[in-house]
Amino acid sequence: MTDKPNTSHLAHNTSKRVALITGITGQDGSYLAEFLLKKGYIVHGIKRRASLLNTDRIDHLYQDPHDITPNTSHLALHYGDMTDSMNLTRIIQEVQPDEIYNLAAMSHVAVSFETPEYVANADGTGTLRILEAVKLLGLTKKTRIYQASTSELFGKAQETPQSETTPFYPRSPYAVAKMYAYWITVNYREAYGMFACNGILFNHESPVRGETFVTRKITRAASKIALGLQDKLYLGNLDAKRDWGHAKDYVRMMWMILQTENAEDWVIATGETTAVRDFVKMAFEYVGITLRFEGKSVNEKGIIDSIDEKRYNQVIQNSTFNIQNCIGSTIVEVDERYFRPTEVDLLLGDPTKAETKLGWSREYKLEELVNDMMKSDLKLMTKEQYLKDGGYTIMNYFE
Ligand code: NAP
Ligand code: GDD
Repeated sequence: MTDKPNTSHLAHNTSKRVALITGITGQDGSYLAEFLLKKGYIVHGIKRRASLLNTDRIDHLYQDPHDITPNTSHLALHYGDMTDSMNLTRIIQEVQPDEIYNLAAMSHVAVSFETPEYVANADGTGTLRILEAVKLLGLTKKTRIYQASTSELFGKAQETPQSETTPFYPRSPYAVAKMYAYWITVNYREAYGMFACNGILFNHESPVRGETFVTRKITRAASKIALGLQDKLYLGNLDAKRDWGHAKDYVRMMWMILQTENAEDWVIATGETTAVRDFVKMAFEYVGITLRFEGKSVNEKGIIDSIDEKRYNQVIQNSTFNIQNCIGSTIVEVDERYFRPTEVDLLLGDPTKAETKLGWSREYKLEELVNDMMKSDLKLMTKEQYLKDGGYTIMNYFE
């Protein structure tokens, strides 16, 4: 998506609901924008200027500005940054949103150890900038605010499962910044009567998940290894356990949180937890590869135990790669550089409040999430294979 004329002026001439999404170019932002557009919203999003185009996830939502009327649902993008309060205030003033979804953040836990000050600014103070702008602009009664809080707040979990009443124990600069964002949201709600809510979301993934989060790293590697495009997958802590859901189910819940009568904070989770090692096994099972793990800690390895050729041929067509030759090969190893200075060992959420008070339930089970991601990454990597077969260089990203 290239630069587009700003269509924000249309927002004032319509009875349609107007939403502003920070972080619209991210995983959740893109699903939420699609969801709200289908509901008939006018959606405004804040994107960062980058040296390369960064709108891949929302390009399919683009509409020719010449076809837009005040009564058409549409998407408008604004340049901005969570670290720039004047910019955020101006955009909120122009857009006059009914709902703000504050999803923008440097969201990678491991990276936050390397950029702690920036994360405090963007993820922590950035949230304050949004709340304060709404207050200063006199929009406290009009604008409802969703804050993207996280299960990382529970960190070194004080109880299992974790619910809205579990004490926080953040374990990374990311989680500490998000803790400030959580409490400043509560404070503005209590001090100024703002409709501001925290969604404490447990991990949620999808085919458009960032490539360096563990699930996507695994599904991309499993697809490449199955096609003969990669030899090995290096991971960190295989014992870590996460409560993984599908992003599509979670963005629906963000919207539901802002439609309730009272502003409250909500835990959104599946209520099931799975080790990284088991996610790896599930991803490879999708392509008919059964793995066995041997060894302990940094010496643990994932080895191809057997291959279901029928399954392999069912999901991978026209491959010239002889996968049977790989039985006995080590394809997963542990690399200490993916360990974190302080780790969150186990997250398991209790979504009872959301299920009983809001009637939320997830549509995707973990197996369906893995299948959705694997199907998509196999398609993507098959394209890479065609390029390679055609003599083009394909890039490998090992982060
Ligand atoms: P994501 O894919 O990493 O997307 C983050 C978005 O924030 C991107 O659009 C990114 O822009 C934008 N962004 C980053 N820094 C910014 C800045 N300084 N100014 C403006 N925009 C900035 O994250 P996600 O998975 O969609 O998560 C959405 C939100 O939910 C985040 O706040 C995350 O911390 C939180 N959360 C996520 C999960 C999860 O499991 N996914 C769970 C709990 C909470 P670029 O595209 O330009 O990088
Ligand atoms: N990224 C990554 N890469 N993680 C690995 C790897 C690896 O190679 N190997 C093992 N892991 C482990 C991590 O140590 C962690 O325990 C777990 O896999 C999940 O890591 P991520 O997928 O990076 O996600 P996260 O749980 O740290 O953070 C995500 O979920 C949070 C909600 O709980 C992010 O989306 C956060 O923004 C979000 O708040």
